[in-house]
Amino acid sequence: MKTRAWTLIGRPVGLPTRDLFALGEFDLAPLADGEIRVRNLWLTVGPAMRVRMSAESRGYLPPYDLATPLSGWAIGEVVHSRCGKWAIGDLAVHQYGLRDVGQGPSTEFEKIPIPGPDPEHYLNALGSTGYTAYVGLVEIGKPRPGDTLFVSGAAGAVGSTAIQIGKALGLNVIGSAGGEAKCRLLRELGADVAIDYKTPGLLVDKLAAAAPGGIDIYLDNVGGEHLDAALALANPHARFAISGMISSYNQERASDTMHHLNRIVTQRIRVEGYLPFTDHLDGLSRYRDQMWSWIQAGTFRPWQTVREGLDCVPQVVEDLFAGRFTGKPLIRL
Ligand SMILES: NC(=O)c1ccc[n+]([C@@H]2O[C@H](COP(=O)([O-])OP(=O)(O)OC[C@H]3O[C@@H](n4cnc5c(N)ncnc54)[C@H](OP(=O)(O)O)[C@@H]3O)[C@@H](O)[C@H]2O)c1
Repeated sequence: MKTRAWTLIGRPVGLPTRDLFALGEFDLAPLADGEIRVRNLWLTVGPAMRVRMSAESRGYLPPYDLATPLSGWAIGEVVHSRCGKWAIGDLAVHQYGLRDVGQGPSTEFEKIPIPGPDPEHYLNALGSTGYTAYVGLVEIGKPRPGDTLFVSGAAGAVGSTAIQIGKALGLNVIGSAGGEAKCRLLRELGADVAIDYKTPGLLVDKLAAAAPGGIDIYLDNVGGEHLDAALALANPHARFAISGMISSYNQERASDTMHHLNRIVTQRIRVEGYLPFTDHLDGLSRYRDQMWSWIQAGTFRPWQTVREGLDCVPQVVEDLFAGRFTGKPLIRL
C-alpha cells in the first residue's frame, strides 16, 4: 500500500511559493497492533506551517524535515483497523494530512460522530480554528456586556469565527482586513465596523475613528502594527488574547517598531499568548456543543474557501499568505 504525500524540497525566504513542494509516493508499512489507516477526505493548511518551513525552529513545533511527508489537520475515513475501537467507515480528525492515505496509532485520531455535523466543520468552526477564536474571546477576553472587541486578520479563518462569536456574545465588534471586498464580508458576518488596513493612513488613526470609546478586548492574529494600534486604543484593564502574529511569519527577524508598549503598564492591560490545544483541551467538547447549536440556529455561519484535489496543496499555501482566501482554506479530495 502506498500514499501520495506532499514534501518540502527547499526552505522559503520571505513568502512561501509553490515550487518549494514536491508530491512523492511513499510505501506504507503493514499496520501494527493498535493502529488504523484512513483515506483522507478533507485537508487544510494554516499559517503555522510557514514557521515550520524555516530551518531553525521559531515556534512551538519543530521545523519540517525536507523530502519527508508533511503533516497537517485532515479528516479521514477508516479503511483498515487493527484497533477494536475503530471500524471500517468511521470518520476521524487527525494530523496525518497533506497526503491521500494516513496511518498511525489510533490514539492520534479522534472519532467524529456519525450522524453528526458535516465532517469538514471539524477543520474549521468545530476544530482548532474555531476553538482558537473562542478561547481567545471567552477564556482570555472575559467579555462583559457592552465591551468593544477588536479582531485583526478578521476575514481569515480564526478572525471570521471571532467576529461572529463576538456578535453572538453581544459585543461591539471591530474587524480589520486587507481590501474592500474583505471588509464587506466582515460587515456581512456582523462586524459593526470594518477597517481596511491597506488604505493610505495610519492604522492607529483608523482604529481611533472606529473605536471612539477605546477597546476592551483585542484578539491578535497579526502582531506588529496591529498590536501597536490596539495598545494605543486599549481601555484600562483591557484583555489582549494573542493567538499568533502572521505579519512576522515571513520575516527571518521581526522588524516591527512598537510605540505603545508602555500602555501595558499605564492601562494595566492583561496580555496572554495561548495554545488552545495544549492548555485548554478540557473545554473543547463544551465549546463544540455551543458552536454546533449556534450553527444549527443560524447564529453562526462557518466561513471557508474550498479547493479540489491533492494536487492543489502548494497553490493553496501560496494563496494563503498572499491573502487570496477568506475564512478557512479547505481541500476536498
Ligand atoms: N494559537 C494557536 O493555537 C493558533 C491556532 C490557529 C491559528 N493561530 C494563529 O491565528 C492567526 C490566524 O490564523 P488563521 O488560520 O485564521 O489564518 P488566516 O487569517 O486565514 O491567514 C491568512 C490571512 O492573514 C492575513 N495576513 C497575511 N499576512 C499579513 C500581514 N503581513 N499583515 C496583516 N495580515 C496578514 C491575510 O489577510 P488580509 O488580506 O486581511 O491581510 C491572509 O488572508 C495566525 O497568526 C495563526 O498563526 C494560532
